[in-house]
Amino acid sequence: MPFSETIFVVDGNCEKSTMRNRRFLECTFVLVLVTVIILQWIRYKNLQEEWLSEQRSTIIQRLDENARQTKLISEDMRAAIKSIETQKRMLLQMQGKEYYRNKPTIYAITPTFARFVQKAELTRLAQTFVHIPTFHWILVEDSTNKTNLVTNLLMGSGLAFTHLAIPTPPNYKLGRNDPNWKKPRGVEQRNAGLKWLRENLTPDDEGIVFFADDDNTYSIKLFEEMEKIKHVGVWPVGLVGGLMVEKPICDEATRKVVGFNSAWKSDRPFPIDMAGFAFKLKLLFQHKDAWFSFEIQSGYQESEILRHITTRDQLEPLADCCKKVYVWHTRTEPPKLSAEQLLTKKGKKSNEGIEV
Ligand code: UGA
Ligand code: MN
Repeated sequence: MPFSETIFVVDGNCEKSTMRNRRFLECTFVLVLVTVIILQWIRYKNLQEEWLSEQRSTIIQRLDENARQTKLISEDMRAAIKSIETQKRMLLQMQGKEYYRNKPTIYAITPTFARFVQKAELTRLAQTFVHIPTFHWILVEDSTNKTNLVTNLLMGSGLAFTHLAIPTPPNYKLGRNDPNWKKPRGVEQRNAGLKWLRENLTPDDEGIVFFADDDNTYSIKLFEEMEKIKHVGVWPVGLVGGLMVEKPICDEATRKVVGFNSAWKSDRPFPIDMAGFAFKLKLLFQHKDAWFSFEIQSGYQESEILRHITTRDQLEPLADCCKKVYVWHTRTEPPKLSAEQLLTKKGKKSNEGIEV
């Protein structure tokens, strides 16, 4: 009995310590489990917060983008509607007037490039051209891409237009300090305009082709003169070539061009300015090799295209036998921006967010 008691006592002690160990292990296990759960929960909460803020910023970005697109579309829509309305007004004006029905479309090709005065120059041109009832402006930017400035200007102009962009090859581009006679200007752009005409019109279309540089001032009367052209028309240009007026000399009796009064490079085959002539569209289809070129002497661009499509004795003098001036090479003076330069140095600008 004592023996068995002893055994019992020994067994009892043993069981107690095993129990304590197990409880300790259980407690530890529970503690570890709880800690793991808490840690996981914290991690989950963090991830959830991260995901939510990511979602929030994506949604905000999308909303901003939607707002921007809606604004752009509504601006475009407004401009398009305005343009359609102007066209409609013009059509209504033309209806019932036989006079307008026989008018050729005047396709004016204008090379243009980005500079401080560009918007002012193009605004002056657009606001003259909008008065010509049968007018199509081919505006060609000297750049790789069409710019927003020119796109918006055209959209809001109420004009029929074609907008193109092609850069002058770098080796022919004027340097910042080069005088402007050093390299030919507008060659690539005018050729792009000619290509567009040849690809999009036919020899049966009634049209007149004119090269309207963006640094000139045009009278509406000039375009009325152009409507008379049967082949190639010429007229005086004011304030160009070092003279008050550079002009073809028109014989009153025969109404023929018998010479030119030019002072600058007067031995040119056609000593006239780009703004001093226009021709029938069909000539572009009859003379497929009529283009401008980089490979000719400076100042010979006008002669280059004209020599392909006409001869001197075929020229038709217009503007009252070349006695009237309806176009001027006004050339807007580059603006003086010394105060702006000071602002720029301070990292500021007067036109922040404003298109000038
Ligand atoms: C004169 C004539 O008036 C031009 O018709 C002729 O192309 C030029 O000479 C020439 O011989 O190359 P000028 O006044 O010296 O022109 O030249 P700009 O008026 O400065 O340029 C003619 C056109 O080309 C303008 O419509 C102008 O906006 C555009 N241009 C000028 C460009 O597209 N990119 C340029 O880098 C410079
Ligand atoms: Mn010019």
